[in-house]
Amino acid sequence: MKFQSIIFSTFILASLTLSFTACKKQEASTVPSKKAEASQTEWWKQTVCYEIYPNSFMDSDGNGTGDIKGITQKLSYLESLNVGCIWLTPVYASPMVDNGYDVADFYKINPLYGTMEDMDSLIAEANRHHIKIVMDLVFNHTSDQNEWFLESKKSKDSPKSDWYIWRDAKPDGSAPNNWRGIFGGSAWQWNEDRKQYYLHTFATAQPDLNWANPDVRQALYDITNFWIDKGVGGFRIDTIPYIKKPAEMADGKPDGADGMVSIHDMTANTEGILDYLYEFKQKTVAGKGVFTVAEANGVGPDLLKFWVGDSGAFDMLFEFSHLPGADIWHKAKKISIPEIKTALISSQVATASNGWYPVFFENHDKPRSVNAYFSEKADRILAAKAMGTLMLTLRGTPFIYEGQELGMSNVKWNSVEVYDDVNTKPQYNLALQEGYSPEQAITFVQAFSRDNARTPMQWDTSANAGFTTGKPWLALNENFKTINVLNETEDSTSVLNWYKKLGQIRKQKKALTQGNFTPILAEHAQIFAYKRIFASDNENDTVTVLVNLSETDATYDSAIVVGCELIVSNYGDTEPGKMRPLEAILFANKK
Ligand code: NOJ
Repeated sequence: MKFQSIIFSTFILASLTLSFTACKKQEASTVPSKKAEASQTEWWKQTVCYEIYPNSFMDSDGNGTGDIKGITQKLSYLESLNVGCIWLTPVYASPMVDNGYDVADFYKINPLYGTMEDMDSLIAEANRHHIKIVMDLVFNHTSDQNEWFLESKKSKDSPKSDWYIWRDAKPDGSAPNNWRGIFGGSAWQWNEDRKQYYLHTFATAQPDLNWANPDVRQALYDITNFWIDKGVGGFRIDTIPYIKKPAEMADGKPDGADGMVSIHDMTANTEGILDYLYEFKQKTVAGKGVFTVAEANGVGPDLLKFWVGDSGAFDMLFEFSHLPGADIWHKAKKISIPEIKTALISSQVATASNGWYPVFFENHDKPRSVNAYFSEKADRILAAKAMGTLMLTLRGTPFIYEGQELGMSNVKWNSVEVYDDVNTKPQYNLALQEGYSPEQAITFVQAFSRDNARTPMQWDTSANAGFTTGKPWLALNENFKTINVLNETEDSTSVLNWYKKLGQIRKQKKALTQGNFTPILAEHAQIFAYKRIFASDNENDTVTVLVNLSETDATYDSAIVVGCELIVSNYGDTEPGKMRPLEAILFANKK
């Protein structure tokens, strides 16, 4: 017997009659305690966040680069997508070596994006659309054009001498150690004025700040408080595990043909880092109702208890164990379905009673999820909906990346010269150095270049997809004539309408925002399935989610959905016990 999917509406949700009999009664042990319920109702736990890469979202003035006014113009669109918070990647004054992650002045807006008045009105207008703005704090490093660095590099006697990490050369004049920066090459750069090297975890133009200096820390706290006073709703904190450097900066065991070792392995999560982070929390966000989500590569679920929650440093943490890819692209391995499940379940379990989980599969540094997780032959629309289902039904706050809600996909450019991303050429060269041919090296670029996620947003079928009337700063994906907001708004079966539908369901079912997470079919090699259960004295709301992440048919024991009623299926219907490739279904318990 097949069950037809329904077009979701408040009315239909209230009067669902499709049934398999009755969803099994929930075990008492799965009922959340009153205390746990109360801690799940902060605004940022109930909402959906949306990441905007300002360069590529919407250009209001035709200069080819997206801007703040462009974002303001699209607030209604975001509201229609049930978005309650926007994470803006950096919009501060910047020479744009790393598209804003090289900050010259945290108190000024990049003129490419507009003015401080534009920013103030974005914050105010967004509030009118029930959306809060989340700023990106880039506190591991600044731009080499930041006043702080210009002062620091003048001389060893400068008042800001100690604001960055300076070291003398080795006796032979070479760099103080063999650390390789995340963007390739030595992590040290010689400076003629000081006759010393400075450390840069990322690009040469991004010198690392010295967090051991209390004046530096205070300057960063002042910046955070300035933006809190402006009325922002939270902060995404960039690349935080690298802020504390080990006392001894010794050579490491080489891990590549260049004789170097990745700086990540030498500096990430150095002992004592949490002291700085707790101090940051106390002196800035504590008790102010704004949330923090820190980017923390390498801080896995086992460490979460120290990093998030009431006694941790942050509210949420972006970590990457569930994503394909690697810091060094030619070393990246595919991630299997059981590995994805294990990573996500571990994070869900680790944040069950402490902290909160930011659900994400894409961001401005990662390839598009329809390419990253699936084969070239996979049905893009089903794949995007399958990932969208996880996004909006796992326990936590979803962070949708711009265009993900359309099922936007990677580009496939054939020459490394076409790519803009500061990390692309070094990665290509690293692959060549390791002995790969140019033809092989470009395949790593095509799979992992950060430009995959940075091509302009696809709004409609007009020139440049309605993103700009000028020359776009980065080429558009050629598929914009088919994949765009306009087409997908009109097509009821589109990925965009799937996101809207699931967003509505999420708003109406407490199980999805406040319910706990109980994995089912844990050992299944193809299907990721779980129940979200919200139970209180007078309510018992359960949603059962099944997603076949594989591109082949799958079967499961239909007993697990006995008594459930079908809410929605990305095929439009479903047959208990069977799932088609990339099928995603939601069941509710029968009232
Ligand atoms: C992580 C950011 O997401 C990335 O875009 C940036 O290049 C690095 N941190 C350095 O700030």
